[in-house]
Amino acid sequence: MTMDRNEVVSGENPHIRIQGVSKIYASPRGDVLALTDATLDIQKGEFVSLLGPSGCGKSTLLKMVGGLDSVTTGAISLAGAPIDGPPVGLGMVFQKDVLLDWRTVLQNVMLPVELQNLDHAEHLDRATTLLKLFGLGDFLDKHPWELSGGMRQRVAICRALVTDPSLLLMDEPFGALDALTRDELNLELQDIWMRSGKTIIFVTHSISEAIMLSDRICVMAARPGRFIEIIKIDFPRPRTLAVRETPEFADYTRRVRQIFESNGVFQHEKA
Ligand SMILES: Nc1ncnc2c1ncn2[C@@H]1O[C@H](COP(=O)(O)OP(=O)(O)O)[C@@H](O)[C@H]1O
Ligand SMILES: [Mg+2]
Repeated sequence: MTMDRNEVVSGENPHIRIQGVSKIYASPRGDVLALTDATLDIQKGEFVSLLGPSGCGKSTLLKMVGGLDSVTTGAISLAGAPIDGPPVGLGMVFQKDVLLDWRTVLQNVMLPVELQNLDHAEHLDRATTLLKLFGLGDFLDKHPWELSGGMRQRVAICRALVTDPSLLLMDEPFGALDALTRDELNLELQDIWMRSGKTIIFVTHSISEAIMLSDRICVMAARPGRFIEIIKIDFPRPRTLAVRETPEFADYTRRVRQIFESNGVFQHEKA
């Protein structure tokens, strides 16, 4: 089942409201202004990317939205309520997959179910279905060390999805993967997002990945970490890899690069 994207992203009350958020880390060598005055409303079901160079506060913001760190000034709310610790219905995926090597693939995916004391049988079904969906049906009883990097990251995504979270926070989840595997996982993620109507905040420093996946891209700069511009990406869904060959894609890429250049951000990577 696919959803009408326009319908999903046009709600009046934002699902996530980030208002004038700053974060200062105190350190022995002085305070670090990791993020300054970030404001953004995110609708339920929207796919938003945080795009910017290393050190611009992407992980800091994601952690604050996930209730793993506190804001210094400003406010973040989820469904109208201030964030105060990790909210119910949250899934997180990090660049490093943090799988437990002594557990099988299926046992790794079931971990949140055990930790939260949820119904085992029901979630076992869901875990198995998810792993099959991500092409890991034959690997349920393998251990993480028997898998490739791409397969491990698929397991981490299944683990984040097993409790059916309404909000998924992903911090450079595909940053350590080769380009082909990354392409594949981008398509799989789009697919699961379109079927499920989840809200996703996705951190990346790849311009092309952000354009490929996002409804909107929040372009950021460092020192101090800040939002520079928010760009709406208008390609229809589902997007295929061929969209990257279109002139419109090149236009978006150029626009992002120009924003970075005029803000003194040096981009090493190719889009
Ligand atoms: N726990 C911390 N203590 C002190 N400084 C930190 C801490 N975490 C992050 N920073 C600093 O805050 C800034 C933003 O970091 P981060 O959010 O990790 O950026 P990004 O994820 O965009 O690379 C950087 O200058 C970083 O060094
Ligand atoms: Mg980071």
